[in-house]
Amino acid sequence: MQSLDDYASEKLDNLQRRHLRRTLTETMREDGIWVERGGRRLLSFSCNDYLNLTHHPEVKAAAAAALQLYGTGSGASRLVTGNHPLYAELETRLARIKGTEAAVVFGSGYLANSGIIPVLIGREGLVLVDQLAHACIFAGSQLSRGKVLTFRHNDVAHLADLLATHRAQHDHALIVTDGVFSMDGDLAPLAELNALAQAHDAWLMSDDAHGLGVVGGGRGSSFAGGKHVALPLQMGTLSKAVGAYGGYLCASAHVIDLMRNRARTLIYSTGLPPAIVAGAIAALDVIEREPDYAALPVQKAKNFTRLTNLPGAQSPIVPIVIGGEEAAMSAARLLADEGFLAAPIRPPTVPEGTARLRLTFTAHHPDTEIERLACLVRERVLAH
Ligand SMILES: Cc1ncc(COP(=O)(O)O)c(C=O)c1O
Repeated sequence: MQSLDDYASEKLDNLQRRHLRRTLTETMREDGIWVERGGRRLLSFSCNDYLNLTHHPEVKAAAAAALQLYGTGSGASRLVTGNHPLYAELETRLARIKGTEAAVVFGSGYLANSGIIPVLIGREGLVLVDQLAHACIFAGSQLSRGKVLTFRHNDVAHLADLLATHRAQHDHALIVTDGVFSMDGDLAPLAELNALAQAHDAWLMSDDAHGLGVVGGGRGSSFAGGKHVALPLQMGTLSKAVGAYGGYLCASAHVIDLMRNRARTLIYSTGLPPAIVAGAIAALDVIEREPDYAALPVQKAKNFTRLTNLPGAQSPIVPIVIGGEEAAMSAARLLADEGFLAAPIRPPTVPEGTARLRLTFTAHHPDTEIERLACLVRERVLAH
């Protein structure tokens, strides 16, 4: 065991020297915005619970009722006995929101991307991924065993060049991008990407983890700005604005059926607990019923960027790029001393030299606290 422990401690020392060692910090979420951490009560600007639905009374009641009726776990893969009838309702609802024929729900967003991409692309295929796309898109792309290329962030011309050079040598091509970028908060140019995909007989998939519920009237980034871009493949997660857990793909009935037959992360992984499925359905009810409420996180983020003179927010996510890891951590400590939780994000989650505070705005954040945070950020974080 000596060499195993030596290996682990050497790796950890290396991370420590580079200010990249991570620790798990116990965090008790009291409600949608307040947390208790290290004996302190902090107002969190770091949760992805954009609509505070994790603590919504209707959502909790639906989950609690399902828990009492159906127990804690699903007992097996969906392909065996884990396919609770509530799944059909959730999938119908997701397909309706996204405007597709069908949907399939996976155990998480990470599992969805890891499973979907290898079903569509094999050894002879090509995957083109935005350089700032989420880590699990790269994981799924590697699992496909096809050729994986990255294009510069939101650079449609660069993607066009790559397609012109490489498309002909591959049987199929898949373009994948975040719809809302998780660490930057900006939106992908989905209409342009879709047109380019069609021109090169490539398939386009957006990962709308941070779009569903909060942009495009709650329907996500393919509905942003009041225009609908009919993407063939829309994946996302139920763990952010929906406040539950699980990933999904919305697509045509044929594609969804293929996923049910071939996606290894669906077939060989246990179904979600029925209570989580019930909670997700109740959360989608709120999102569909209350578009004004769904619009609040982006409104609050825009207010913050206006007060701080940062580029205007396009989503509830606002990055404050600091640069060095140590400086980002010290900015986070400064804000914590003032009662705010703003978690620092370091490489490899973000590119080298762009360590940042990633702020997330939610429907319940009081405007007065946003103003106080903006003042601190303007005068004590950005001024340095
Ligand atoms: C863009 C993006 N895709 C996928 C995921 C993974 O989703 P999940 O947390 O449901 O595994 C996340 C976040 O964790 C994300 O930000």
